[in-house]
Amino acid sequence: MSSANARRPTALVTGASSGIGLELARLLAADGHDLVVVARSREALDRLAAELHAAHGTVVTVVPADLADPAAPKAVRAAVDGAGLTVDVLVNNAGFGTYGRFTDIPLAASLGLLQVNVAALVHLTKLFVPDMVARGRGRVLHVASTAAFQPGPLMAVYYASKAFVLSFSEALANELAGSGVTVTALCPGPTRSGFQARASMESARLVSGTMPMMDSADVARIGLRGLRRGRRIVVPGLVNRILAQSVRVAPRRLTTAIARAMQERKAVAPGREA
Ligand SMILES: NC(=O)c1ccc[n+]([C@@H]2O[C@H](COP(=O)([O-])OP(=O)(O)OC[C@H]3O[C@@H](n4cnc5c(N)ncnc54)[C@H](OP(=O)(O)O)[C@@H]3O)[C@@H](O)[C@H]2O)c1
Repeated sequence: MSSANARRPTALVTGASSGIGLELARLLAADGHDLVVVARSREALDRLAAELHAAHGTVVTVVPADLADPAAPKAVRAAVDGAGLTVDVLVNNAGFGTYGRFTDIPLAASLGLLQVNVAALVHLTKLFVPDMVARGRGRVLHVASTAAFQPGPLMAVYYASKAFVLSFSEALANELAGSGVTVTALCPGPTRSGFQARASMESARLVSGTMPMMDSADVARIGLRGLRRGRRIVVPGLVNRILAQSVRVAPRRLTTAIARAMQERKAVAPGREA
């Protein structure tokens, strides 16, 4: 196998079929990385592979996988090994939210969310990071959320999953200090992507005009800049950074109540219903 200096670095991006992950994949390819892209939508991944090969000559290995299946991370690792690849940059981005009262959301949806947002992220980290440590170099980007900073009524399990991702990432970054491997938690605020439709939360105040929404491409660019610098936490956007800081000093009951107010459906004026 060629030495690490002779080959192009390889980045593995989960959730590369849409939104922030798609833009992360585009930027990593433009930056000279070959890619392993993971998501359920094979067609979207194939389109991305063709686009990036045409634009940059990127070698893209497409690995369709449903990360809600506990066996998927091992299958992803087997696909990487089968292609003879070494992962230099691991981007755990795949994730989704469920919207509504916890008691109304089917248990399978909540457990599926935890499998994708939390368990698959931990599993993939375990499968790839020890090799990075052995090589003395590597970069890990975990896509958390500003949801990580406070509880989120009406998206209770989603917010808690992102609190896990942030906590896990910071602890791992501490453990790996000096190893040559960095861990960055990217914490976007509301961002235009497929996320809101999948969570059926388009009418929640948070994403229906009350708060500024960022573009996925801007979030990805800021996230990768933080990754290159080895930053532990990256919160894109000034408003998001101010809010993330303010919840640290405010009483938890208050921040929880404010999050609830932002998650409630926006009132529709009479006669304006669709
Ligand atoms: N948009 C926001 O406002 C926002 C804010 C903060 C954090 N985030 C986080 O950003 C990350 C990316 O989300 P996004 O906003 O870019 O939303 P998105 O456009 O819906 O993209 C989500 C990605 O995750 C993949 N994914 C979802 N479920 C999967 C599964 N079971 N197996 C494999 N892949 C799966 C999707 O691919 P397939 O559907 O093809 O499987 C897609 O590529 C998520 O972790 C999300 O929590 C989003």
